Amino acid sequence: MLEKRLLPIVVLDDEEHAEPLAEALLAAGLDVIELTLRTPAAMGGIRRIREKFPQMHVGAGTVLDPEVVPQLADLGVEFAVAPGLNAAVIQAAQRVGMQIFPGVTSPTEIEMARALGVETLKFFPAEPLGGVTMLKALIGPYGHTGIRFVPTGGIDAEKASEYAKLDAVAAIGGSWFVKGSLMKEGRFDTITEMTREAIARIATA
Ligand code: 3PG
Repeated sequence: MLEKRLLPIVVLDDEEHAEPLAEALLAAGLDVIELTLRTPAAMGGIRRIREKFPQMHVGAGTVLDPEVVPQLADLGVEFAVAPGLNAAVIQAAQRVGMQIFPGVTSPTEIEMARALGVETLKFFPAEPLGGVTMLKALIGPYGHTGIRFVPTGGIDAEKASEYAKLDAVAAIGGSWFVKGSLMKEGRFDTITEMTREAIARIATA
């Protein structure tokens, strides 16, 4: 599901945008989407995409509470993403066999995540933490363990190319190509174009 090494992080304001958004991403060749649980539209959006686009790998982002995980599993959510490292959330995902990418910022948190049996970690917020330079420093002692990172936070197409050069980067997450303003303006063609561009940049990096 992270084959293209690109993870769209979506803050959905209107449930009605879910289908055209999924269509726009699929048109660009991307079959994965993360809908953040930050808006009332998120759950409905997840349901709509699961129903209409079974080929789409749907994840839930901003998963802060373990209680929501079984509901997500019932909706067919394949993976969960969290901004921080919360053992209760991680264990709730593991109980239902859902992949989880918890957020880490430091060596201590990486080791806590490893102890909990998690191997793919969100590096968040990537840019404010020092970006590629910081991530390279973290990969130094942990890269050989098989730990992989999904940097997110403040990344754009240009910066994505830099992260993509690192083997330990499983995927680059971001909202720059799925911004709420684009959806509000109905510019789903632009979303397809920007997604294509991001995929191409990552592939050539
Ligand atoms: C998030 O979880 O909010 C992501 O990191 C998105 O970051 P971005 O909006 O800066 O791309």
